[in-house]
Amino acid sequence: MEKPLEGKRVLVTGSGGGLGRSHAVLLAERGAELIVHDIKPDNANETVELIRKKTGQLATVLISNIREIEEFTTSISNLGKVDILVNNAGVGGKGRKIEDIDIKIFDEMFEVHVRGTFFATQAVLPQMKKNESGKIINISSIFAMGGHDSVSHYAAAKSAISGFTKSWAKELAPWRINVNAVAPGFVETDMTRASMSQDDIKDLEKKMPLGRFCKPIDISYAVAWLASAETDMLSGQVISPNSGAVIVGY
Ligand SMILES: NC(=O)c1ccc[n+]([C@@H]2O[C@H](COP(=O)([O-])OP(=O)(O)OC[C@H]3O[C@@H](n4cnc5c(N)ncnc54)[C@H](O)[C@@H]3O)[C@@H](O)[C@H]2O)c1
Repeated sequence: MEKPLEGKRVLVTGSGGGLGRSHAVLLAERGAELIVHDIKPDNANETVELIRKKTGQLATVLISNIREIEEFTTSISNLGKVDILVNNAGVGGKGRKIEDIDIKIFDEMFEVHVRGTFFATQAVLPQMKKNESGKIINISSIFAMGGHDSVSHYAAAKSAISGFTKSWAKELAPWRINVNAVAPGFVETDMTRASMSQDDIKDLEKKMPLGRFCKPIDISYAVAWLASAETDMLSGQVISPNSGAVIVGY
């Protein structure tokens, strides 16, 4: 297999499972040196073991809670060189109507997605600016494109991430730092299963123009492309592998 990311050091937040794990493994297979981050040590170690089995590479583990924002950003600043940051960690919306979203739930959503993405990026910038290169890949959501009922706090947090993406692309272009976002459509992960029954998943899947939900790897291919030199002239974009869902609505 070609190794287009050889020599690149990549941090994927929330890569102890779900999509983040899939991104970490694919990026490692393409030659990157991985830093696997999560709040759950056992899950992060499982990802590291998977990477070792598939590539022989020993990835670095970083355990921190994004909501403990100072500890989280200090741990990132201490990593040294990070060429590519994937702001992936997230929490799901769990089908809550406006009346069901209290301040605690609202704050967790914005702390993990918005504060986490902002301050992780702030922590890697000094050395990216010094090197005059870098790639920041934010994970937004199809819900930030079309909205969705019963998950407005999640859609709003993901919309903020799209806003960061476009603004940072402009602000960081002089240092040749690319900033893009991937806005996944529906993918069956723990997050999806926590808010939808298997019957709901099957019903919704039938409505997808391309016939199925995305698989984690469908999202990882977009992430790996944005991490590669093939996208050196692409910045401020939000790309959305979503099974064609936005063509028809969902
Ligand atoms: N699954 C989907 O259909 C879908 C669709 C659109 C966007 N997304 C986004 O993709 C990303 C990954 O989602 P997923 O489906 O893999 O979810 P997931 O729940 O399977 O994985 C999320 C990971 O983030 C970690 N995490 C959560 N809170 C954390 C914290 N406070 N500190 C550190 N780590 C924390 C979890 O431990 C977990 O490993 C998220 O940003 C999510 O919003 C997912």
